[in-house]
Amino acid sequence: MCGIVGYVGKNQAPSILLNGLEKLEYRGYDSAGIAVHDGVNINFLKAKGRLENLKKLYEENPITGTLGIGHTRWATHGAPSDVNAHPHVSDDNIIGVVHNGIIENYMEIKEELLAKGYNFKSETDTETVTYLIDDNYKNGMSFEDAVFSAVDRIEGAYAFGIICRDEPGKLIAVRKGAPLIIGKGEGENFIASDIPAILHHTREVYFLEDNEIAVITENTVDIYNKDRQPVHRDIFHVTWDIEAAEKNGFAHFMLKEIHEQPRIVRETILKRMPEDKNFVDLDDIKLGKEELDNIDRIYIVACGTAYYAGLVGKYLIEKICRIPVVSDVASEFRYKDPILDERTLLIVVSQSGETADTLEALRIAKKHNARVLAIVNAVGSSIAREADDVFYILAGPEIAVASTKAYSAQVAAMYILTAHIALTLGKISEKEFEEIRDEMYQLPSKIEYILQKENEEKRLAAKYKDVHNVFYIGRGLDYMVSQEGSLKLKEIAYLHSEAYAAGELKHGPIAMIDDNSLVIAIATQNDIIEKTISNIKEVRARGAKTIVITMEGNKMINSEVADDIFYIPKTLDILAPVLANIPNQLFAYYVALNLGTDIDKPRNLAKSVTVE
Ligand code: M6R
Repeated sequence: MCGIVGYVGKNQAPSILLNGLEKLEYRGYDSAGIAVHDGVNINFLKAKGRLENLKKLYEENPITGTLGIGHTRWATHGAPSDVNAHPHVSDDNIIGVVHNGIIENYMEIKEELLAKGYNFKSETDTETVTYLIDDNYKNGMSFEDAVFSAVDRIEGAYAFGIICRDEPGKLIAVRKGAPLIIGKGEGENFIASDIPAILHHTREVYFLEDNEIAVITENTVDIYNKDRQPVHRDIFHVTWDIEAAEKNGFAHFMLKEIHEQPRIVRETILKRMPEDKNFVDLDDIKLGKEELDNIDRIYIVACGTAYYAGLVGKYLIEKICRIPVVSDVASEFRYKDPILDERTLLIVVSQSGETADTLEALRIAKKHNARVLAIVNAVGSSIAREADDVFYILAGPEIAVASTKAYSAQVAAMYILTAHIALTLGKISEKEFEEIRDEMYQLPSKIEYILQKENEEKRLAAKYKDVHNVFYIGRGLDYMVSQEGSLKLKEIAYLHSEAYAAGELKHGPIAMIDDNSLVIAIATQNDIIEKTISNIKEVRARGAKTIVITMEGNKMINSEVADDIFYIPKTLDILAPVLANIPNQLFAYYVALNLGTDIDKPRNLAKSVTVE
C-alpha cells in the first residue's frame, strides 16, 4: 500500500520521480505528490486522484532540483485529498516526508506536538512524523539524529523517504515492516518501494531490512541498524528486464499477465521437476524424509488469491499425502492463538511477500519454533527473507491488482510440493509420480489452448454483462476454483458474486436464485460430477442461467444442464484447477471491460496490502 520513490544525484529529480511513481501506482492510486529540493528550498506538488493529475499539475507548475521524494497513496488515515496526499512538509519547508504504512501511536505524539504549537493540516498519521523530526531538528539535533530519535518514538509499520531543507544532497530512508529498496547508480542513488520504479536507471539494489536507516547521497549509501551501528549489505543484481513490468501491446497488465501463464507454469514446473530426474528437486529447501517425519501438523496461511491457491494445496496434501492440513486466512490465523510447535510446518503463500497479515502469521509461527516454508513471487521480499525456506514461483513482476499469473504458479507450486511429499513418504509409487509429472508437463500447452478460445469468454461476458448476481459453484477442487473465480469478478467488475460448495446451495443460498441469476458451475471432478450436475439442474429449474466449465469429452454436460459450456482440455482431476481457473479469469476480465471499470487498478484496492 502506497508507493515511495526517492532520488539524489545530478539529474533533474521530478521526471525520475514521476516515472518511478508510474511503476508504483499499482500500490495505491488515490493521490500522489512529489517534493523536490532546488538547492535552496523544498518545493512540493500534491494532487488528489490518479498520477495523471499530478503530472498535469507539474506541467503547469514545474519545479526543479536534483534531490526529491515522491509518493502514490492508498488512504489509511484521512480520505483521498490534496491535503492528505504525501509528501508532508513542515512549516518553512524544513522537513519533507513520504510514508508507506501506519503509525500506531501517532495520536499520543500528535497531542504533544499540538501542545508545542504545531498546526496540523491533514488527517494523516504521517504528518505527525514530519513534525516530530522537525521538532527534533529545531531542538538542535542533526538531520540524521532527528530521524533516528523520531524512529525511536514511533510504533507501527513504516517505510519513509525523508529530505531536509538544509541538506540539499541528502536523502534518508527508513524501513520497518514495509518494503524499501535502495538503487545504486553512478553518481546517483534511488529509493523505492519496489524494483520496477528504478529499473530504468539501475539493476544494483540493496534491500533495506527492518529497523534500518540509510543515509544516502549521490555517491554514498550508509546503512545503520537501530543502535546506529553501520551495517554491511551485499548488492543484489536484478536479472529480469523492464519489459516484464510493461504491457507489451496488451490493453491491460491483467490481460498480459493472463497470457504469460503458459510460460510461467512451464518454468515453475521445470525448475523443480526437470525432465532428467524422476523426483522433485527442491534444491536448498529442507523438506526431506527426516524433516517430513518430524511434522505432525501443516497449516497453509495466506490472504485473497494466495489463500485460494493454498486451499488447492490443502486438498491435495490431504488427499494424496494423507497428512491433515489446516488452511486459514492470515488475518484470522494471527489472532486465534493457533496450535504451533516445532513439529508444525507453516506454509505461507504470498505473491508480494509483503502482505502484513501473512508476514505476522509467519512471525507468530517462528516464535513458537514452527518451521516456515514460504511460497513467494517477489524475490528478496520480507516474507522470503524471514521464512526458513523459500519456494520461489517464477511469475515475474505482477502489476495488475487482480492476481492471475501468480495464482497459476502458486497452484503449480502446490502440485510440486504435494508430489514431493507423497513420493518422499511413499504415498505414491515412482510410476504414479511419473504419471502426475508427465501430465503436469502438458499443462502449459493446455493453458495455451484455453487462451486460444479467448473469444468464447468474450462472447459470454457480453451476453451476461447485465446480470446482477453471479454464483460460482463446484465440489471438491472445483469449489476451490469457484472461490477464486468469484473473487476475480468482484474485484475488477464490482459485480456481486458468491462462491458456494454446490452441495450447500439447498441449505440456504438457493433462495436467492431467480431468473436474473447467473450460475457458473465448475464440473471437472469426475468422482463427484453427477452430484454437481444435480445441483446445476436445481438452479436451472429455478430460472438461473448456467455456464458450465468442464473437461472435453464430458457428455453428461449438455444443453439440458447448461446454457453455455466452456471446455477445458482433459487432464488428471487433481490438475484441473489450474486449467479451470483460466476461463474464469477471462470472463472477469471481459465483463469488466464491458462495464468500463479500471481493470488494472480497481477501486478501493491496492496490490500490496502492507497494513492489517
Ligand atoms: O501479495 P499477496 O499474494 O500476499 O496478496 C494477497 C492478496 O492481497 C491478493 O491475492 C489479493 O486478494 C488480490 N487482489 C487478488 O487478486
